[in-house]
Amino acid sequence: MRLFDNPLALVSFLAWGSAAELTFSATAIQHGRTVDTSILSFLPIPPRSHHHHFYQGLLNLTLLADLDKRDTTSFSNNWCGVSQHTTASNPITGVNGIFSAPSLSQRPGQPIPQFAAAWVGIDGSSCRTTLLQAGVTTVLNSNDGQSASAWWEWSPRSSYSISGFPVKPGDWVGVNITVSSPTSAKILLTNYNQDYVLTLTLQNGPQLCQLDADWIVEDFRQGDGKVSFGRFDDIWFEQCAATTAHGPKLGINGAPMIYLGSNAHDATCVAKWYDNEDFYCESQN
Ligand SMILES: *[C@@H]1O[C@H](CO)[C@@H](O)[C@H](O)[C@H]1NC(C)=O
Ligand SMILES: *[C@@H]1O[C@H](CO)[C@@H](O)[C@H](O)[C@H]1NC(C)=O
Repeated sequence: MRLFDNPLALVSFLAWGSAAELTFSATAIQHGRTVDTSILSFLPIPPRSHHHHFYQGLLNLTLLADLDKRDTTSFSNNWCGVSQHTTASNPITGVNGIFSAPSLSQRPGQPIPQFAAAWVGIDGSSCRTTLLQAGVTTVLNSNDGQSASAWWEWSPRSSYSISGFPVKPGDWVGVNITVSSPTSAKILLTNYNQDYVLTLTLQNGPQLCQLDADWIVEDFRQGDGKVSFGRFDDIWFEQCAATTAHGPKLGINGAPMIYLGSNAHDATCVAKWYDNEDFYCESQN
């Protein structure tokens, strides 16, 4: 259950006077110069129409003690990639990663438009109450034209599409999330191809568990079902790292490779381990 699904629940929650609003501010730099952020707009996307849902499916969480036992595979109906996990006594304080914005081609037999999202985030797998994430969604239209857009979301609050953030399919995008308290964080969203860095400072967010670090390609939900999932060129996730309060820094070793599908045969996306900092997601079927 998600707290903010029901508008009545929201109203009564606010009526108690205990709900601080999530607030955020943004600054941006391109080619070393400060960008006028008034050209950026943050368009709230109602959770019901475009929600990057929590992990669904089986997940074998691997604890630090099992770091040597990697290469397990887990299956999900909406996520593909890696979700690393720590314990409450050593919370995650930051997650970094660089990925290529999805570049799509038509998946035969599936409705158009088709989509894929790639993002980096904290929580949302073993922690089911919240997920802080930022990434890029690409949409492929009937004329094979495609466009990418950047967004961020602190679930279960709305996602925000960042209109004005320059990004094209295939661009290298970096996400650095730094947690300053369980309810405040900073997100750096970088487009390396366009030498552009957006800094978002977020306050009064839903309480983080700081248990999961995620590097994910998603077939996300829109309305009542999942969007039509396009085929994509390999999406590499590089320099993946999560910092923890007491160390060590975590990479992807020890975490399962998550496939999107109910088994290896029907997976539409598989995640392939390369080394502790790097892996890629490959389109299948
Ligand atoms: C989870 O781990 C168990 C025991 O290690 C294994 O038998 C099972 O196949 C794993 N499940 C997945 C989805 O990886
Ligand atoms: C952001 O993350 C990238 C990729 O992991 C890393 O190389 C870079 O140093 C990080 N930047 C900051 C300011 O933490």
